[in-house]
Amino acid sequence: MPVIAAPTGGTTYNMGGKLTEEEFVNAICGGCNKAGTLGAVADGIGDPLLVYEKRLQTLKEHGYKAIVGLKPRLQKDIIERMRLAEEAGIIALTIDLDSAGRAARATKGQTVEPKTFEQLKELVKASKLPLLFKGIMTPDEAELCINAGAAGIVVSNHGGRTLADTPGTAAVLPRIVDKVNGRCFVMVDGTLARGTDVEKYVAMGANCTLAGRHFVRAAHGGLADGVALFANKMKNELAVAMVLTGAQAVKDINRSMVVIPDYKA
Ligand SMILES: Cc1cc2nc3c(=O)[nH]c(=O)nc-3n(C[C@H](O)[C@H](O)[C@H](O)COP(=O)(O)O)c2cc1C
Repeated sequence: MPVIAAPTGGTTYNMGGKLTEEEFVNAICGGCNKAGTLGAVADGIGDPLLVYEKRLQTLKEHGYKAIVGLKPRLQKDIIERMRLAEEAGIIALTIDLDSAGRAARATKGQTVEPKTFEQLKELVKASKLPLLFKGIMTPDEAELCINAGAAGIVVSNHGGRTLADTPGTAAVLPRIVDKVNGRCFVMVDGTLARGTDVEKYVAMGANCTLAGRHFVRAAHGGLADGVALFANKMKNELAVAMVLTGAQAVKDINRSMVVIPDYKA
């Protein structure tokens, strides 16, 4: 199933405080796993290390299959959190490099920084898990990530929450995929709401998609059942879209199934 949860967190400062972090992790990861896909857990720049540890503890207790999204903190702080994530038995790590551009991220005594190429290499070397750099929006950034040894990239503009007026991810994805040319795993996010959105991103060359805000809403509306309902809705809609476009398997989805405006190879 080529749609998983995007890392989201901060239930008090981002989501109005209806759920505790533990309830939120149970909803997202429990619901996604129930529907046969991966959950995601955030690092939470607004939270002390203890809260991150609690999220991982919840993952471990229930044996959830999930990815963990780390923030572009100082190198030693990232590596400390990598070790904790590895112990929690997760599948892969992302670091949303674009987060360094959000001034708000540097509040509450915690520090983020834009990463140099050497720092990216150091992080790849330090990670025992596949590491994907998130927030990639241009072919040259993708090239840097590949040269740094990343297992993959996540094409993302953070749902437009980092910098207004950046292009949409669908507008930049085809050229990035062409540049990558199969050399690393390519994920993408950006307002996924329907199974047809998944098919469009996969048709443009993504290996997998992530959904953020719709999973957040589903968790608040119906906990794990709400999340599973949304994931299954995406799955069923994707299956219908595949039938109607002649794809028997996800690997059969290709560019001939979408019109890409103004695209010149
Ligand atoms: C409440 C909230 C918290 C988020 N926290 C994180 C985070 O900790 N790490 C991260 O990589 N992305 C974070 N994101 C960004 C999402 O992973 C995703 O890139 C973005 O929301 C776009 O997907 P969407 O349009 O499906 O929401 C957050 C997004 C939201 C809405």
